[in-house]
Amino acid sequence: MKAGGRDVSRIMVTGGAGFIGSNFIRIVHERFPEIELLNYDKLTYAGNLENLEGVRGRYSFVQGDIQDPQLVGEAIAGADVVVNFAAETHVDRSIHDPGDFILTDVYGVFVLLEAMKRSARARLFVHVSTDEVYGSIARGFFSEESPLNPSSPYSASKVGGDRLAFSYFKTYGLPVVIARPANNYGPYQYPEKLIPFFVTRALQDQPLPLYGDGGNRRDWLHVEDTVSGILTLIEKGEPGQAYNLGAGQERSNLEVTHAILSLLGKPESLVQRVVDRKGHDFRYALDSAKMRALGWEPRIDFATGLRRTVAWYREHEDWWRKLIAKKAYMNHLQKNYE
Ligand code: NAD
Ligand code: DAU
Repeated sequence: MKAGGRDVSRIMVTGGAGFIGSNFIRIVHERFPEIELLNYDKLTYAGNLENLEGVRGRYSFVQGDIQDPQLVGEAIAGADVVVNFAAETHVDRSIHDPGDFILTDVYGVFVLLEAMKRSARARLFVHVSTDEVYGSIARGFFSEESPLNPSSPYSASKVGGDRLAFSYFKTYGLPVVIARPANNYGPYQYPEKLIPFFVTRALQDQPLPLYGDGGNRRDWLHVEDTVSGILTLIEKGEPGQAYNLGAGQERSNLEVTHAILSLLGKPESLVQRVVDRKGHDFRYALDSAKMRALGWEPRIDFATGLRRTVAWYREHEDWWRKLIAKKAYMNHLQKNYE
């Protein structure tokens, strides 16, 4: 793998014990035997080293906070490329407790960028932003030039990190590339997000709390397609640029819910209409022409990806049962749904 025309031998992955980060590490570990991976993760409720079981050799782990300048500085020193996945990521949690979102998703990004500025070796910083930075769009698609108009404390803090990363390119010439992926799904996603939450609830014959009328729409991108997009950006992304990663697989939440129930052979009566999320974005939709021009395209259609994902959760009951038995999960359910 090359970045900036030179071979990459060491990648620092922040948030590598989370959902997308762990999928990234698994895939890079398998496909690129010449690359060493350093996983830097605080292990919040969303970080889980079991996501990386079986990843051995050419891999190391440091437990650390991206807000810690000293530890970040030491970790970054040996890296050619940094991919920043570390973040607080759940919109509902940001509505109840926004503080950590500002600290990690804005201040943490600042600490990483400062360390990157001082590193003699690092030559690319891939910052993982989100499609939520644009806010909601009733019709049509957002391009990378669309105004940023975030709705939740989560998406507003992601705008902070996204634009801070850009400012380090513009002001200091730091080689920063920004990825803005759509809603991800797939294996190892913490069971608070719509798809794993509803799959694991349905498997336990528990009600599925659907916000509002279930008409809100999301574009569903399989995590393996996100990983291939980030690899494309490491090799071909232009510093200073942001790139949309959409799937073109838009569904209403009601459609997703019905598809899950049908795959599991569970009754529609499990659907429970609940009060809407505050500030709930109606629809996200991205124009991904800029990524496609680099040769990337998503390969997994939603029907196939959802079938595989539902099967994964069925087969990995031990994995998710441990998580839902923890306080962090139960407290979230209580705060958000009761
Ligand atoms: P996740 O919540 O599953 O994992 C986040 C990881 O970051 C965890 O391992 C956690 O321990 C770690 N972390 C949190 N705070 C940290 C800190 N201060 N220091 C070090 N590590 C910390 O998240 P995810 O769904 O894998 O998302 C990864 C990235 O992709 C995030 O930046 C998110 O905003 C972005 N994103 C996610 C999606 C999605 O649908 N999941 C879509 C678009 C963009
Ligand atoms: O779009 C990218 C973003 O996707 C990422 O940046 C975020 O990190 C990620 O959490 C996700 O945000 P969403 O808010 O779109 O995802 P979530 O899975 O929380 O919700 C998807 C939709 O389902 C949304 O319209 C709200 C609805 N929903 C969600 C939950 C958890 C429900 O109706 N009921 C629920 O219990």
